[in-house]
Amino acid sequence: ATEWTDKDFIGLANWGPEEAEAFLQHALQLKADKAEWVKKAPLQGKNLGMIFDKPSTRTRISFEVGMAQLGGHALNLHRQELQLGRGETIEDTARVLSRYVDAILIRTHSHDLVTQLAEAADIPVINGLTEREHPCQALADIMTLAECKGELAGRICCYVGDGNNVLHSLMHIAALTGMHLSISTPKGYEPSPAIWQEAEAIARVTGSTFSFSYDPAQAVKDADAVYTDVWASMGQEEEKEQRAQAFAGYQVNQELMSRAKPDAIFMHCLPAYRGLEVSADVIDGPQSVVFQQAENRLHAQQALLLGLLLSSS
Ligand code: CP
Ligand code: NVA
Repeated sequence: ATEWTDKDFIGLANWGPEEAEAFLQHALQLKADKAEWVKKAPLQGKNLGMIFDKPSTRTRISFEVGMAQLGGHALNLHRQELQLGRGETIEDTARVLSRYVDAILIRTHSHDLVTQLAEAADIPVINGLTEREHPCQALADIMTLAECKGELAGRICCYVGDGNNVLHSLMHIAALTGMHLSISTPKGYEPSPAIWQEAEAIARVTGSTFSFSYDPAQAVKDADAVYTDVWASMGQEEEKEQRAQAFAGYQVNQELMSRAKPDAIFMHCLPAYRGLEVSADVIDGPQSVVFQQAENRLHAQQALLLGLLLSSS
């Protein structure tokens, strides 16, 4: 397994470029040698507790199947079924779970809650998405980019849409892998300045650059990959209408794709809303790699679990 320095996986800001490269190679190898890993069952006897405060298809299923394939087990823990939902503190929940399971995956609104959980837990805590970051997605995304484009350093990735959790983790991973990231969001929906600072600090070491334009047509120029995500994230349901108006003109459609490189790939973390952030002909067309991204969640997270669980035992 990859050498693991941190107890937890909450975000990518404190990773180094070597760690990202080692992780990527490990994940690609694990995908290629899956049958052998399944036979070895290296996570036998290991249990992952999964706390979900928000819905999930990919994260929940890929972690559950990922554990099972490697000989381990995963437990689905919805907040409402835990005493957490009745006011037990996150710290007490962390202390108790630390005595039963070997790692905790959590998907919740507040990033601080994940940090609190990790501080109180003796076992690794994995961020399965917060309002701030979605680092597991970024791990699958670099696998997909590497499979489609080879060497990542110097590649141009363009993100069009909401300056949200998925973009934040993409900024971290782009900086770590030496990619150039071109970003286009409407006014008022730019990524967080704190994430810009974190990503730029990493980029100073790797030579990665960032650019920003309010004009998506300008931003996609020369892109090797065009990435978008939903306009209204989980928890923003009430802003749906207002956001649909603000983001009109930011849809990734054939017209926009035609301004990127001819062999550019289209990426989306899913779930997707055809006719809003992406047109059906793009997401269902030949440039789309969205299901490869979804599949890579499984392989990337297995590599992550091996790193966290085997180096902490
Ligand atoms: N991309 C992603 O995290 O999907 P889910 O919300 O289905 O887990
Ligand atoms: N930005 C989206 C990602 C879903 C996987 C959300 O937070 O809802």
